[in-house]
Amino acid sequence: MSRIVYVNGAYLPEEQAKISVFDRGFLFADGVYEVSSVLCGKLIDNEGHLARLHRSLSELDMATPASDAEIETIQKTLIAKNGVDQGLVYLQVTRGAADRDFAYPQGVAPSLVMFTQNKNVIDSPQARNGIAVIGVEDIRWRRRDIKSVGLLAPCMAKMQAKAAGADDAWLVEDGYVTEGSSSNAFIVSAEGVLITRQLGNEILAGITRKAVLKLAQEQQLEIEQRPFSIEEACNASEAFITSATTFVMPVVSIDGNPIADGKPGRLTRRLRELYIQAALDSVDEA
Ligand code: PDD
Repeated sequence: MSRIVYVNGAYLPEEQAKISVFDRGFLFADGVYEVSSVLCGKLIDNEGHLARLHRSLSELDMATPASDAEIETIQKTLIAKNGVDQGLVYLQVTRGAADRDFAYPQGVAPSLVMFTQNKNVIDSPQARNGIAVIGVEDIRWRRRDIKSVGLLAPCMAKMQAKAAGADDAWLVEDGYVTEGSSSNAFIVSAEGVLITRQLGNEILAGITRKAVLKLAQEQQLEIEQRPFSIEEACNASEAFITSATTFVMPVVSIDGNPIADGKPGRLTRRLRELYIQAALDSVDEA
């Protein structure tokens, strides 16, 4: 049975789903997206993802394609139709289809596309053993706070990491780490301080980042939101990334240098457990 996807009002087998060649998402990357994780068939932190979707849309003067309630109904319908237990729901809004012109067209309906992916989000070798990252120059545009579908720069960074035998890239601008290629970056100092870059146009305001900072605060961890360099990260006692698809994922080496003993750190493992527990609790309440 083929996967059922959603395209502009219709639920269709993926082979039958169609989008116009004039869609501005296709021609200009004129679109935004969100990825919400699914645990036990339920959406995690979805309210935050929908709030960020509205922010991205409004920063680009793009129309909202549907109400939050309608979007969530479509997300849940896709989870049910595809029998997703663990994985994610991807949603993308583009400005719609119009004859090619750099100026935004007026009166065009936005396109809304959604699909699901099955993924082992809780238990994976990478979550158990950690990942290796390398520093790569951040060549992205300057509005990374907008979750735009223009993702070629992070794709290139990821390929650079793979070519170097690593799993992922940490992006570096003016000597400081901005974030991961598709995640937020954290380190823990020798003194046990949790450090992650402050929000701004330079990074995406991660929904998982926010949840993890709240958990860390509840654990009375000292938190510093400031830039850090690759060198500081290499000398840290722990490092990890956060995103909707990795939750809290240990980073065990940077540019080939093992972090501490080269194993996932204690606080990292604890924050991962706490995040997953909170997610499972929210599923029980739903
Ligand atoms: N990416 N920074 C970037 C550049 C990202 O692409 C992402 C997520 C994050 C983490 O945000 P959140 O915690 O809200 O998922 C930070 C998604 C998962 C993706 O592109 O697949």
